[in-house]
Amino acid sequence: MADRLYIFDTTLRDGEQSPGCSMNIEEKLRVAQALATLGVDVIEAGFPIASPGDFEAVNRIARTVQGPVIAGLARAHDKDIERAGEAVGPAGDRARIHTFIATSPIHMQAKLRMQPDQVLERAVEAVKLARNLVPEVEFSAEDSGRTEMDFLCRVVEATIAAGARIINIPDTVGYMTPEEFGSRMRELIERVPNSDQAVFSVHCHDDLGLAVANSLAAIENGARQVECTINGLGERAGNASLEEIVMILKTRADRYDIEMGIDTTKIVPSSKLVSQITGMPVQPNKAVVGANAFAHEAGIHQDGVLKHQKTYEIMTPESVGWTTNRMVLGKHSGRAALKARYEELGVTLDADQLNAVFEHFKVLADKKKEVFDEDLLSIVADDQEVASERVKLVSLHAASGTKDTPVAAVELEIEGEQHRATAEGDGPVDAAFKAINSMVEPNGKLLLYSVNAITSGTDAQGEVTVRLQDGTRIVNGQGADTDIVVASAKALIDALNKLPDMHARQVHAQYSGV
Ligand code: KIV
Ligand code: ZN
Repeated sequence: MADRLYIFDTTLRDGEQSPGCSMNIEEKLRVAQALATLGVDVIEAGFPIASPGDFEAVNRIARTVQGPVIAGLARAHDKDIERAGEAVGPAGDRARIHTFIATSPIHMQAKLRMQPDQVLERAVEAVKLARNLVPEVEFSAEDSGRTEMDFLCRVVEATIAAGARIINIPDTVGYMTPEEFGSRMRELIERVPNSDQAVFSVHCHDDLGLAVANSLAAIENGARQVECTINGLGERAGNASLEEIVMILKTRADRYDIEMGIDTTKIVPSSKLVSQITGMPVQPNKAVVGANAFAHEAGIHQDGVLKHQKTYEIMTPESVGWTTNRMVLGKHSGRAALKARYEELGVTLDADQLNAVFEHFKVLADKKKEVFDEDLLSIVADDQEVASERVKLVSLHAASGTKDTPVAAVELEIEGEQHRATAEGDGPVDAAFKAINSMVEPNGKLLLYSVNAITSGTDAQGEVTVRLQDGTRIVNGQGADTDIVVASAKALIDALNKLPDMHARQVHAQYSGV
């Protein structure tokens, strides 16, 4: 019988730690819902002690998302563990605390300033406490890749004895090579006397581009849980990418006789959702989910694929959800069909949300001949954001031409008050940004401005990503519209709304009642 591999998704925790990728609670809920639809076994929903917002997000996910186990991360500190237990508690028998402590010499000496025996004792105490709070405890020996092997065996044996049922072996800094990491996993499972009482897990970072290869090596050598993220998001160079691991195991089932609970046709919609929410574009040549992953340019390739798809395609685009994402609804479609399509995309809407989204959909369907899944995702993102924003776009008028100085007039609602400003710029987008920035502060430094057509055709919605930096904080904003200047203004406003101290510039405060 084939072995079962558990897919542990950490997009909402390690993925969210990527610069600029922080998500608000509504966004996290949408991603969690999509992950459940995708069929992951475990959702690491966040790090509850990190902030009240993190706690709230984990807690709401534990209360509302059905299906997967819901995990909360905790350092090996009592307060972290208690907070994580409280956050994931509502998931009942699907609640997991994931506690960790570093075990490599450099981390113990330089970061923790603890002796190995103290670290071991803390790890055991942490697992015991967590075990009293939730049915399932996972323990990670942070920086396992650089941990001395005898000590790693001692820590793993002791934490299993203390009640951890999942033992995670992270290559925290992406330092390992596949052969090295695979044999480390094998040696550990063979040497630890009680290893049969735990599922061994792997968590790899991509600093040298080896996260997926190292994860596979660990799976080949006995790991039965793999920690990964959608689009490979994560600290620094990211984590192992879920879509790549899953599709390798599926496409090479001849080599890996392993079962997973993933519905692979939901991979592309999940990737698009995460990219859209985080503002992290997927590179076109990214395996499985990149826009070019199934595009054949060379004539000889096109000829081959037309004669037999398998000449140049080792998996079908449909199997990962590429062509199923074509929207078949048009302006005559009804609410029920729209709701059903959203559910297929992993988005659950209540009656009020559906009404709001439906109105928005009708307006868009009037403007565009075809409405695609990407359009639907951007509608729902827009609607949810607008509901919670401090600054809202009321109107925008921009004019430009070959002989005119570009100018934009923008009207905003800032915390309930109307504000208006006009500015000139190098182009209509520049003018609109200047007008918006003159009404709020701080504005942050513009690090990135990028435009993508969400779908094809000149009536496509443009999706704009804006990245701002204010001090040490980096935020991403996104906006979509068939008018690129409006999409840009929405993206800037979205990013500004994520700057915690952003407020109306005093000089404009009285400029109300436009
Ligand atoms: O990379 C790492 O070691 C982690 C742990 C918290 C599992 O993210
Ligand atoms: Zn990590």
